[in-house]
Amino acid sequence: MELKVWKETLEPYQMAVNELTVKFQHVIEEYHLRGEYCPIVGVSGRVKTISSILDKCRRKNIPVEEIEDQMYDIAGIRLIVQFVEDIEIAVQLIRKRTDMEIKEERDYVRHSKESGYRSYHMIIRYQVQTIEGPRTLYAEIQIRTLGMNFWAAIEHSLQYKYKESIPENISYKLLKAAQAIVVLDSEMSAVRGEIMDAQMSMQHQQQIVSDILETIHHLYKKTNRREVEKIEDEFYRVYQQNDIEKLERFARDLDLIAEGYEAQDAGM
Ligand code: GTP
Ligand code: MG
Repeated sequence: MELKVWKETLEPYQMAVNELTVKFQHVIEEYHLRGEYCPIVGVSGRVKTISSILDKCRRKNIPVEEIEDQMYDIAGIRLIVQFVEDIEIAVQLIRKRTDMEIKEERDYVRHSKESGYRSYHMIIRYQVQTIEGPRTLYAEIQIRTLGMNFWAAIEHSLQYKYKESIPENISYKLLKAAQAIVVLDSEMSAVRGEIMDAQMSMQHQQQIVSDILETIHHLYKKTNRREVEKIEDEFYRVYQQNDIEKLERFARDLDLIAEGYEAQDAGM
């Protein structure tokens, strides 16, 4: 295939990767805006390189003319989650969407691959609007925990180094490491509730602090400097005490003061 044809072929896949990445980032944003626990912590995407497409064609006996029908991971999206339980939440989220049609799911979490690889894969059909009209193409979404991702990244670079024939002693160590990740994931799961609480309250506190600072900022425009500086000093004093209830009370009192100055609506 000519380079120009390659570029034209891969263009809609780049569009799909861009759109899907943004869409999943919006999912994260929605959880954050609601102040809810977010199952997804990272989104990335890539279009398979031409050389990697050619490699796979050779490996799988796929004619180059048929890559669009037979190669599902030209467009690839990766969702990173914290806990194994979050994989299922992300999967449900994708199943509910009307802009992605699921073609296939591969559960390498319950059934890890021989190498030790774990991840949940979903092959979807996704439509992009090109200047020549709609195009529906395949994309692969890989969902995995931070631990699974750590393992896969290391193993992938070794695969690259050894051109897919990793020496036995190394693949044995990798398998051991994969088992250690299973244990790590399950031990993390055991404290998931605990960790979620901690993260949520950290997020809650950050939100209160940023609301307070924003109100103080508005107050500077509404009242005299001395007054606001006093409030600011008081805020730092309360903040030092590291007591969320005191901080909440301070935020409520500050809101009342701000309402008095009609500062709440300023700068909207
Ligand atoms: P390829 O593995 O790419 O030939 O695709 P496939 O059609 O056999 O699908 P499969 O579900 O096996 O793998 C799809 C993708 O999952 C791969 O492109 C990799 O990104 C990832 N993957 C699968 N197996 C492994 C593995 O053993 N190690 C690593 N690091 N990644 C893997
Ligand atoms: Mg494979």
